[in-house]
Amino acid sequence: MITITAEKKENAKYTGDLYGIFFEDLNHAADGGLYGELIRNRAFEFCPTDNPSYTHLTAWKKNDGEGEVNLVIETGSPVSQKNPHYLGIDIIAPGENTGVINTGYSKGIPAEAGKIYDFSFYARREQMTDKKIKVQLVSKDGKAHAQSEFFITDRWQKYEAELSPDKTDDEYNLLISAEGRGKVYIDFVSLFPRETFNGRKNGLRKDLAEKLKELKPAFLRFPGGCLVHDGSLNSEEHDSQYRWKNSIGRIEDRPSRRNNWGYNQSLGLGFYEYFLLCEDIGAKPLPVLPAGYDPHHFRACSMDKMQEFIQDALDLVEFANGTPDTTWGKIRTEMGHEKPFNLEYLGIGNEEVGEDFPPRFKIIRDAVKEKYPELKIIGSSGPFAEGSEFELGWNKAKEFKADLVDEHYYMAPEWFIENARRYMNYKAEGPHVFLGEYASWGNTWKNALYEAAFMTFLEKAPAVHLACYAPLFCHTDYVNWKPDMIWFNSTSSITSANYEIQKLFMHNTGDTLVNTVSSADGKTLLKDESPDSIPGKIYLSFNTASVFYSDIILTEIKDDGKISRSKKIKDCTVNASNRKVSIGKIKSKKWKLTLNAKELSAKQGFRIYFGETKNRRFLWEIGGWQNQDSAVCEEINGKSSCLHQHRIIVQRNTDYKLTLECDGKKIKAYINGVLFHDTESKPFAPELLYQSLTEDDEYFYFKSVNVLESGQEVSVSLEGTGCSAAAAEMTLYEGFPMDAENTFEKPFSFKPKKGTVSLKDNHLIFTMPAFSAAAFKIKKQQ
Ligand code: AHR
Repeated sequence: MITITAEKKENAKYTGDLYGIFFEDLNHAADGGLYGELIRNRAFEFCPTDNPSYTHLTAWKKNDGEGEVNLVIETGSPVSQKNPHYLGIDIIAPGENTGVINTGYSKGIPAEAGKIYDFSFYARREQMTDKKIKVQLVSKDGKAHAQSEFFITDRWQKYEAELSPDKTDDEYNLLISAEGRGKVYIDFVSLFPRETFNGRKNGLRKDLAEKLKELKPAFLRFPGGCLVHDGSLNSEEHDSQYRWKNSIGRIEDRPSRRNNWGYNQSLGLGFYEYFLLCEDIGAKPLPVLPAGYDPHHFRACSMDKMQEFIQDALDLVEFANGTPDTTWGKIRTEMGHEKPFNLEYLGIGNEEVGEDFPPRFKIIRDAVKEKYPELKIIGSSGPFAEGSEFELGWNKAKEFKADLVDEHYYMAPEWFIENARRYMNYKAEGPHVFLGEYASWGNTWKNALYEAAFMTFLEKAPAVHLACYAPLFCHTDYVNWKPDMIWFNSTSSITSANYEIQKLFMHNTGDTLVNTVSSADGKTLLKDESPDSIPGKIYLSFNTASVFYSDIILTEIKDDGKISRSKKIKDCTVNASNRKVSIGKIKSKKWKLTLNAKELSAKQGFRIYFGETKNRRFLWEIGGWQNQDSAVCEEINGKSSCLHQHRIIVQRNTDYKLTLECDGKKIKAYINGVLFHDTESKPFAPELLYQSLTEDDEYFYFKSVNVLESGQEVSVSLEGTGCSAAAAEMTLYEGFPMDAENTFEKPFSFKPKKGTVSLKDNHLIFTMPAFSAAAFKIKKQQ
């Protein structure tokens, strides 16, 4: 029996804001997703900057019908200079249904029989006539199921109509046809379901927003990760970084922008709507702004021009919190929200790496803190859990007095068990941790369960104040990134196991940590079947081009330090034709590889695979993605964890002397004699039980996670808390295969068991089944 004793302590950690959500428009999470707009490319602003396959007519097709039509994109006298393109429908030979169709996102426009859809567009004719314009929802067989007609003038004007189809169809097209000869111009063609989340105009898709509300997140981080900082520093340019001022005000004046995930963002779901969403789901807003630096393309605003970025931050706080008589508070009020949005947190930068970020962070942070000392400013430690950028980010955050530091990582599920206690040694006095993006690779029950175990320590670690799983949404037809918490297609959405775990923790967070002493603490069940060293095959490989390896020597060393085997291997070139060259198989605990590597053609570097056994292998990648890093990674069952990163840019036609040393599970890697990596592969040793206890005025919340294949008897004593409750409400997730996953193709329900467990003499006694996660809610006054 595992015994856990609750102890009350003074000044216990505040947990109230701990679990939030992170929204980014990737996987078409906003346009084509949460944002209710059903017309794709409504303003004809798609272009090859967004995606090489795009044109201003993407998602639009001419429809000759019984006549003949030409489509032309024009820019003279547009509705808004911010979105200058619009469509000219040139009717050459008039006829029935002669015009243009919009094909919507994915397979078409979904609409339900009898429901109302709000259609609107801007239109004008070249010449005044008494001929009509018709708008119809047509099914694939060409039949119209809803329609409306308009007479338009020769001046831009907005026209609106209700469309209510007589048939449910997920694959409608919207047909706009014109009677008579000559040109008809259209722009900002829009179709929204009347039923949006909370009935808001320009609103959000109901089923998706409701799934967010159901989580009860403490905060919402928006508008994204890489989306925020990847782009031109010039806010006027189509490929600019996400600049919040572009995303507010009249829809027509929000300039459409490149979305770095390979598509276009309308910005129809902008900062104002994000703030509203926060209010509607009861989450604190946590916006993130770019810091005048794009780490993906090495663009940095010169320090003497940073005022624009500083001002963006100051104005955002005023937009959120200012009274209606302030400049930006007035704009918020005019948009329909007089009351402030109560901004408490502000992120500066997403996953910044390199020396250019810290001074830019500091200058923005100082200006904001001077005017708004209460606001909590969040810095960044980059996209790695360890290494040079992580250390740089943390050191500078401390020096520049960030309130919190945003850490990000995506790892193998095992990593979350191996590193469950990661934050227990972080200092309580701050800067505090904002774990702004994390996930184990996958949406199976195993992923969710291991994340749950990890989360119990997020709760207990004094330094961790905020955490959010990432990413949130994925459209099944537009996958940029997986895993994701919520999956959707054009009509329905499903939640993952990870969602269920997040919900379990969010519904049972409390606002204060209660200290516990557990008899299981530190006790592990060693399940690690991997050896206590890194044996196995070694391969030399390449990244994107061609690498020449020379002076390759592989040495194995005995326990007494003597060399047992030293092998000189033939020089080789590795590229797409041979992919990888095997150079041997290691048996010893201690070994060393030295070699020279030269990158011959493109700009990316080298890959050395080592320690390859059945389910595991390691990779030393130098100059990988975007050629900015050297990284040592461990792959378990094909899921990779970056153990350590160090910044480097690999030059072409340049010799690099590489040394890789393994001693037991410790790994050291040198480039040109300089130690780049000093890391280790940790044993997979799950603890007997993961648990945490929190409280608020009304309840105690006890959460426990069992990642083992046997059940655990648990007794929790609440005696020390003064609580004399008789029963606890239990929510238990159990009985799911570890590889169970909820997909559209193979639905799987992660439904929890709900019940009541009696307390005996202030003791909560229960059995945690194998592979289970549970929360017990105990009312203080019963
Ligand atoms: O969550 C997906 C991406 O992962 C984010 O945009 C970025 O911050 C991280 O690299």
